[in-house]
Amino acid sequence: MTTAPGTAAPAASADTFDLIRRHLSPRLALTGSFAGRGATEVSGDGCRVTLSDGRTALDFGSYAVTLLGHRHPDVLAAVREQLGTLPTSTRSLANPVAAHAAARLAEYFQQALPKVYFGLNGADAVEVAVKLARMATGRTRVVAVEGGFHGKSLGALALTHSPLYRRGLLGTAVDVVHVPADDPDAVLREVRGGEVAAVVFEPVQGENGAAVLSVDVLRRWCADAARHGTFTIADEIQCGLRRCGERSVALAAGLPVDAVLVGKPLGGGVVPLSALVCSEELYAPLSADPFLHSATFGGHPLSCAALPAALTAIEEAAEHGGRLALALDAVLDQLASKHGELIAGLRGTGLLRGIDFTSPAVAGSVVIELAGAGLLVSPCLGRPGTVRLLPPLVSTGADIAEAADILDTAIGVAARRGA
Ligand SMILES: Cc1ncc(COP(=O)(O)O)c(C=O)c1O
Repeated sequence: MTTAPGTAAPAASADTFDLIRRHLSPRLALTGSFAGRGATEVSGDGCRVTLSDGRTALDFGSYAVTLLGHRHPDVLAAVREQLGTLPTSTRSLANPVAAHAAARLAEYFQQALPKVYFGLNGADAVEVAVKLARMATGRTRVVAVEGGFHGKSLGALALTHSPLYRRGLLGTAVDVVHVPADDPDAVLREVRGGEVAAVVFEPVQGENGAAVLSVDVLRRWCADAARHGTFTIADEIQCGLRRCGERSVALAAGLPVDAVLVGKPLGGGVVPLSALVCSEELYAPLSADPFLHSATFGGHPLSCAALPAALTAIEEAAEHGGRLALALDAVLDQLASKHGELIAGLRGTGLLRGIDFTSPAVAGSVVIELAGAGLLVSPCLGRPGTVRLLPPLVSTGADIAEAADILDTAIGVAARRGA
């Protein structure tokens, strides 16, 4: 990490860890303290964050939220303007900011899917998609994919595959069957009985270590689902919005999905925002009665104000993102051939990449080493042996080179330690 001259860790950070330990979670205090070596996060600018002891770190993590980095100026300006007029909605009067944001999002996907429901977290979008599919079909069952991650609220959790988060909570809300990602016949087997409301998949599974699903398998799944009156829902909360190069991975591949879910960077990395973007047919229950599914802060003006600025900024940076992805290819290949004893493989696409280490212990030790050396990355919730790299679109070739140097050193340290 780089240290700004004349700065020191304020005593306040010890207090922060104590408060986290007492009121949030002892484990959070521990992992945060490891990652920051006793310092806390204080501010962010672009792809860098500054810590309470004055050091800065390159942020290639943030669980895929900061595609535009921290405090993108255009997003900040749009949110500030809304803050100065009407930051919250009466929810009795019509809100033009939410209306324009919905139109902009539908237009962003070239009107392939005209209807929009806004939530705040990704799980909100997953929940409403599944609920609408059940209401629109009158069926209860949902097909999800092994290795998939769709959130941790009870409904979304039913679709998430990892037993780590589902233990003791199964059978609560949604009737879900998980199918293997590489089985082209899997969806047909499940839907032909006429009981399945929806098939939900991530075209690129983020928390599963950036696993890219086969487009041919997905195409077959979509066709089989459509033939049996089952909706298909592409969860692109992590992989969409140019993270993997395309606005929507599924739509760009020509998959005839009924819905795309987006979140994370949709609020420009400044405010929380997620959305279900879907067909008239899937949305029919809400078209008939908008109160079938609503939430106090759904379509919140501050969040919706960020959307047009965020999408414009994402599109302006998209071509640059393609060049960054190529640069990343080159440095990851070099690292894999240099550290073959610890790196078992490379995964992912675009700016969603995974480095597979030989064991979860090695991956864990590399993540901690990286944070201490000034590179923040995200571990994979469903695949602990893989370290995820999520460079922002606003990073530069020099940032990628700096990240490669830090990775090289950190992996070398892990190797010397015999991790
Ligand atoms: C593909 C995918 N879907 C859904 C979610 C849940 O989003 P949130 O944590 O915002 O509820 C995530 C979060 O990582 C995700 O990656």
